Amino acid sequence: MKNDNIVWHNHEVDKSIRSFMKKQRPCLLWFTGLSGSGKSTIAGAVETILAERLQHTYLMDGDNVRHRLCGDLGFSEEDRVENIRRVGEVANLMVDAGLIVLTAFISPFRSNREMVRKMLGEGEFIEVHIDTPIEVCESRDPKGLYEKARAGLIKDFTGIDSPYEAPESPEIRIQNYNISVQEAAQQVIDYLDKQGYLKPQNGAQNASIG
Ligand code: ADX
Repeated sequence: MKNDNIVWHNHEVDKSIRSFMKKQRPCLLWFTGLSGSGKSTIAGAVETILAERLQHTYLMDGDNVRHRLCGDLGFSEEDRVENIRRVGEVANLMVDAGLIVLTAFISPFRSNREMVRKMLGEGEFIEVHIDTPIEVCESRDPKGLYEKARAGLIKDFTGIDSPYEAPESPEIRIQNYNISVQEAAQQVIDYLDKQGYLKPQNGAQNASIG
């Protein structure tokens, strides 16, 4: 329940100061795509390259988050929306902490992804569509889940009996077949480089630091 007696407090050390200290522009790289499309693998490879470049990151992955933070949620439409809402809120806090956040969730609903986009500031939400045809995902079937879904052992499986609404104009679209993980990851790094996310920021003018 929302309480009217709770007032937002603006602390002196803010996002711009943390961004200045971390020598980067914080943002959220939101990987979306079908199960087996390569979201987690590519996000992991992007994070490795960023770590090598001494950037400050955090990766949140659907399968891991569903063990803890969202361990009470299933795969109904309502539960998926709540899953993405929670992840969006946590990711937003991490962006506020000055990090480059990477998330890998199917996040099948367009309006749900747009809800997260609106939580963040201008230029902070970077939608990365891992655009792999379902036939390719199904032939990879790394966790054997498509086979189970086809056999009727899993219901509401994305792409089989639950919808996936592809992004209409993502900041980055990666057609993830016939390319290597490194090539796919490099497309994301190139975007970040070109848009200036990986450069030192001057945000600490108003504080007695720096
Ligand atoms: S989301 O739809 O709410 O964004 P999320 O990314 O957290 O999904 O979790 C997807 C992962 O859960 C898949 O990679 C797969 O391993 C597993 N999974 C289990 N059941 C389902 C299902 N019914 N549909 C899709 N993925 C499922």
